[in-house]
Amino acid sequence: MSDNIAKIILDGKTYELPVVVGTMGEKAVDISKLRDMTGYITLDNGFANTGACKSAITFLDGENGILNYRGITIEELAEESTFIETAFLLIYGHLPNEQELNRFSDGLTRFSMIHEDLKGFFNGYPSSGHPMGILSAMIGSLAAYYPELVKPDPSREEVDSIVVELISKVRTISAFSYKKSRGEPYVYPRHDLKYIPNFLNMMFSSPAKEYEINEIVVDALQTLFILHADHEQNCSTSTVRLVGSSKANLFASISAGINALWGPLHGGANQSVFTMLTQIQKEGGDIHKFINKAKDSNDPFRLMGFGHRVYKNFDPRAKIIKRKADAVLNDLGIHDPLLDLAKRLEEVALKDSYFIEKKLYPNVDFYSGIIYKAIGIPEDMYPVMFAIGRLPGWVAHWKEMIENPKNKIGRPRQIYTGEVNQHYIPIEKRS
Ligand code: ACO
Repeated sequence: MSDNIAKIILDGKTYELPVVVGTMGEKAVDISKLRDMTGYITLDNGFANTGACKSAITFLDGENGILNYRGITIEELAEESTFIETAFLLIYGHLPNEQELNRFSDGLTRFSMIHEDLKGFFNGYPSSGHPMGILSAMIGSLAAYYPELVKPDPSREEVDSIVVELISKVRTISAFSYKKSRGEPYVYPRHDLKYIPNFLNMMFSSPAKEYEINEIVVDALQTLFILHADHEQNCSTSTVRLVGSSKANLFASISAGINALWGPLHGGANQSVFTMLTQIQKEGGDIHKFINKAKDSNDPFRLMGFGHRVYKNFDPRAKIIKRKADAVLNDLGIHDPLLDLAKRLEEVALKDSYFIEKKLYPNVDFYSGIIYKAIGIPEDMYPVMFAIGRLPGWVAHWKEMIENPKNKIGRPRQIYTGEVNQHYIPIEKRS
C-alpha cells in the first residue's frame, strides 16, 4: 500500500484501489469498485473490518480507548456537559449557544405529552410485556400520529420537529411502559422539570407519594446518558442507518434500532449482567465455577458485561462510569450482596489469564446495571435506559445519512453456499 493507493493481485493481475484517510489518521481501502473491476467481493463476517460510511459524528479508537463526539473527548463531555447539550452537539454538529439550547430544551418540554389515543395502546399490552418491546412498538406507532412528517424527503424544519418530538416523547413512553408493567397509574410529564428529573418523576411518583428528586441520582443518569449517546457504527446504529437508507421514516428507523439494541450481546447486556449475577448468587455464589464455564469453549455461557468488539484494552466509558457507580453506592449508602458479587467477579476476571489474553474487560454495561439497581430502576428497564441515552446518536446518524445526496441504499452481498442444480419434485414423489 503506498500513500493513497492499495494494490491487490487477483488471478495474477494487479489492480489499484484508492485509499481513504480520516481526519484522525485512520485508513481504509475503498473497495466499492472491486467487483466491477475484478468480479470479486469482500467477505467480512459481522462487518468487523468494514467501513459502511464516512461519518463526522463520533471518533472511536478501540486500541487506545478513545471516544470523541464531534471532536470533544467523552471524558470532557461527561465532566462538563449535560445530556441535552450533548444530544444537540451530536445532532447539529456544534455545541449550542444559549439561544439554541433554550429553544431545544423548550421544545423537549413542550412535546413531552403523548396523544391520548396513543396512551390507549398501553392497555393492549400484557403487564408482563417487556418494556423494550413496548417502547419499540410505540415509537414505530408514532408515525401514524404524524403523517405530515412521514415522507421520504422531509425538509430541514420537519426533521428538526421530528427530532424534538422523539427525544422528548421517548421518556414519556419509557416511563409509561414501566408504569404499565407495574400496573400503576401513569404520571404525566411536568413542564417545570428538566429532562432527567421529569423522567424520574414519571417513573417513581405515584398518587400516594411524589418522587423526591435526588441530585446524586440525576447526576449519575446524566453521565450514563452522555456516555451512551453515540458509539459510531455499532449494531443498533447500523440498523438505524440500514433501515433509513431505504428512505423509511425516522420513527420506523429508530424503532428498528431499539429492537437491535435489545439483544443481550448489545444493549440488552446490562439486563443480562443482572440475570447472570442472580444466577450465580442462587447457585451459591461460586464465582470460579462461572469463570470456568465462560472459559470453556464447549459451554455457550459468556460473562455478560465483559468484552467488546472494538475496545481491546479498556472501555473509556466503563472507566468513567465505574467511578460514578462507586460514588452513587457510597452517597446513597447502599449495601447490596448482588453488587458485592459484581465487584468480586470483576476482580477475579481481571486477574484471569483467559480474560487477559483475549483482552476481555468490563464494558459500560457491566457498571451501568450497578447504577440502575442502586437507584431503584428494575432490571427489565435497563435496556430502555440505554435506548433513551442512545437516541441522539441514532438520530444524528439518520440525519447525516439523509442529508448526504450520495447515500446509497444499504445492500450487502453474500457468498452463496447452498444447493445447486436442484429440480422441483411434486409432493407425492418426495420422500
Ligand atoms: N465471556 C467469555 N468469553 C468471551 C466473552 C465473554 N463475555 N466475550 C468474548 N469471549 C471470547 C469468545 O468466546 C471468543 O473466544 P475464541 O477466540 O476462543 O473463539 C473470543 O473471546 C472473541 O469473541 P468474539 O465473540 O469473537 O468477539 P466479538 O468482538 O465478536 O464480540 C461481544 C464482542 C459480542 C461484546 C462479546 O465480547 C460478548 O458476547 N460479550 C458479552 C456480552 C456483552 O457484554 N455485550 C455488551 C457489549 S457493549 C455494548 O453493546 C454497549
